[in-house]
Amino acid sequence: MVTNNTTNHESSSPSEKVMNNSNGDDNILTLKDITFGYLPHKPVIEGINLDIPKGRFLGLLGPNGSGKTTLLKIMIGLHKPWHGHIDLGYDDTKTKKAGDFLPNSKKGRISSNTIGYVPQIESVDWNFPVTVTEVVGMGIWSRSGVFPWFNRNAKRLVQNILDSLGIGDYAKRQIRELSGGEQQRVFLARALIGNPEMLVLDEPTSGIDYNTREKILGVLTQLNLKGMTIILTTHDIAGIAKRLPWVVCMNKKIISQGPPNEILTSANLLKTYGLADNNIDNNSDNNKDNLLTGRREEFQSNTVAGNE
Ligand SMILES: Nc1ncnc2c1ncn2[C@@H]1O[C@H](COP(=O)(O)OP(=O)(O)OP(=O)(O)O)[C@@H](O)[C@H]1O
Ligand SMILES: [Mg+2]
Repeated sequence: MVTNNTTNHESSSPSEKVMNNSNGDDNILTLKDITFGYLPHKPVIEGINLDIPKGRFLGLLGPNGSGKTTLLKIMIGLHKPWHGHIDLGYDDTKTKKAGDFLPNSKKGRISSNTIGYVPQIESVDWNFPVTVTEVVGMGIWSRSGVFPWFNRNAKRLVQNILDSLGIGDYAKRQIRELSGGEQQRVFLARALIGNPEMLVLDEPTSGIDYNTREKILGVLTQLNLKGMTIILTTHDIAGIAKRLPWVVCMNKKIISQGPPNEILTSANLLKTYGLADNNIDNNSDNNKDNLLTGRREEFQSNTVAGNE
């Protein structure tokens, strides 16, 4: 479905539900008429209506200052909206284990968080003296008591997650001694260690090279295929947005949403960014390299029945 949402009061249609990885009636998050700002009478997002079904892999697009980070923070409860309503449809009574996305032998014994959040990397204070293991351990702090990194079980779990993301050798390093791409993966590990129902990532591939971007997208795709809802922001239209199953264009308000081959048109990009990019507006071939379509077959052929 294509939603050209200038009035911002749209909801899911039957065809939108067909696009989801799971049942479209089963929304993990519903935002109704959300307005928020940092200064009185100056909203930075306005009248936001968004239904996010469980299992969706969604890319949020918009120019600098359009309110993407603000909207993510509203979704995860860091900001209270001035106006509107948020429904969280996830099941926080589930007793999934930390590391559930890892092969069985590597699972730990720490119960899940519901939302994992990977912040925009520019917003992190890299001078803070903390090691990689400690940063990732913070992701289970609230669940496992004080100083989980002194707990051997938690430490092993941290190491397994770092290994699965290809940064296992850096466990003892100070976080500021890592490259940007490595830091991104540390924060991804921190979010994943609680085995969240929903993963929210703010520009997870900004400033990283092609190979690292592909690695991160590969990890996210596999998580999504196992049922995790993923919401990310990006400025990379050709390299990421075009390859996701669902995109949302915003600029203070929701401008349009739907599959990228229907949404990333010159008209919508003009409305969103004030630009038209003919290289992106190629409706015919957009799904050829859809990340999820390609990886789904590969992933399913490698998956033991009943293991998901
Ligand atoms: N803590 C804050 N106090 C005051 N204004 C803020 C604060 N955080 C963000 N803003 C303002 O709110 C607006 C939206 O910012 P936000 O960070 O949500 O945009 P964004 O779409 O994530 O941008 P970018 O692509 O640059 O990350 C901007 O005008 C920004 O200056
Ligand atoms: Mg931002």
